[in-house]
Amino acid sequence: MKILGLVGSYRKLGNTEVLVREALMSAAEMGAEVEMLRLTDLNIKPCKGCMACIFKKADCKIEDDANFFFSKIFEADGIILGSPIYIFGPVGTIKMIQDRFLQISTKIDKLKNKVGAIIAIGGAPGAEGTIMPGLASFFSFLGIPVVDQMLVYSHGPGEILLHEDAVEKANKIGRELVEALQDEQAKTKYIEGSGVCPMCHQNFLVLKEGVLECGLCHIKATPKIEGGKLILEFGKTELKKGEEIQEAIADHIKNLSETGVKYIKLKDEIDKRKEKYRNFPVKEVKPYS
Ligand SMILES: Cc1cc2nc3c(=O)[nH]c(=O)nc-3n(C[C@H](O)[C@H](O)[C@H](O)COP(=O)(O)O)c2cc1C
Repeated sequence: MKILGLVGSYRKLGNTEVLVREALMSAAEMGAEVEMLRLTDLNIKPCKGCMACIFKKADCKIEDDANFFFSKIFEADGIILGSPIYIFGPVGTIKMIQDRFLQISTKIDKLKNKVGAIIAIGGAPGAEGTIMPGLASFFSFLGIPVVDQMLVYSHGPGEILLHEDAVEKANKIGRELVEALQDEQAKTKYIEGSGVCPMCHQNFLVLKEGVLECGLCHIKATPKIEGGKLILEFGKTELKKGEEIQEAIADHIKNLSETGVKYIKLKDEIDKRKEKYRNFPVKEVKPYS
C-alpha cells in the first residue's frame, strides 16, 4: 500500500510540510510505503487548451514534469494533498497541475480504488475563501473519494507544531487513509453532517434559480427550517451520487469530447464572427516591451 503526500507550499518544513509528514508517519507506522512530493520541485507549464487530449485522445505535447506527476498519482493508493491558503484559496502550484488533469482523461481507470485526504493551513480564521472547495476539486475531478480533511491556522513556518490538536488530526488522517484502503466500505463513508455535500464533503452551497446546490458537484439540497435553524437535506438519489464519483467524471469527459464534434460543425461561422476582433487594432502589450 502506497501513500503519497503532496506539499503545495514552497516552505521547507513549513506548516503544510510538517503536517503532511505527520500524516505520512502514522501511515508508515501502519505498514504503508510512503513518499512525499514537493509540488514546487516540479516544472509544470500552463495547459494550452488545445483539447487534443480529449478530441484526439492524443498524448499531451507539453514537455515538463506533468507525466512524472501523474505516474506518481497512478502508483499511489492514498494521496494526501497539503496546501497553505494563499490569497483566499489553494496555492498556485496546485492549480497549475490541476489545469493539466484533462490529459489523463483516457487513463481514468488507473484512478480507481484510491482515496484522498486534505490538509489545509491558513494564517488566521476569516480569510479561507475557496481553500476547501478548491482542494476538494482536485480529488473531485480525479474521481477519488476524500476520507478526511482538516483546516488549521498558524503563521510562521512550522509554528503549527505548537498546536497539538492539529498535529493529532494530521496523524489521524494518515491512519484513516490506511484504514480506508483496508476496508472497501470506509472509502465512501465520510459524510460529515447534514449540511455538507455527500460527494465533495464541502459546504460550498450556491443558490441557483431558487434551489440550493453544491457549487462543485451540482448535488441539490433541500433546505428546511427547524427550531429557527437552516437544515440541509440531500435526498437519497443525491446521496447515491456520492458513491459514484468515478461515473460522474467519466460522464464529464464524454460530454467534453462531444463539444469537439459540435465545434467542428460551427467552426466556419465562429471564424467569420472572429474577423471583427482579429482586425481590431489594439496594441498587444508584451512584458518589458
Ligand atoms: C502570499 C501569501 C498569501 C497568504 N494568504 C492567506 C490568505 O488569504 N488567508 C489566510 O488565512 N492565510 C494566508 N496566508 C498565510 C499562510 O496560509 C500561512 O502562513 C500558512 O501557515 C503557510 O503555510 P506553509 O508554512 O506551509 O507555507 C498567506 C501567506 C502568504 C505567504
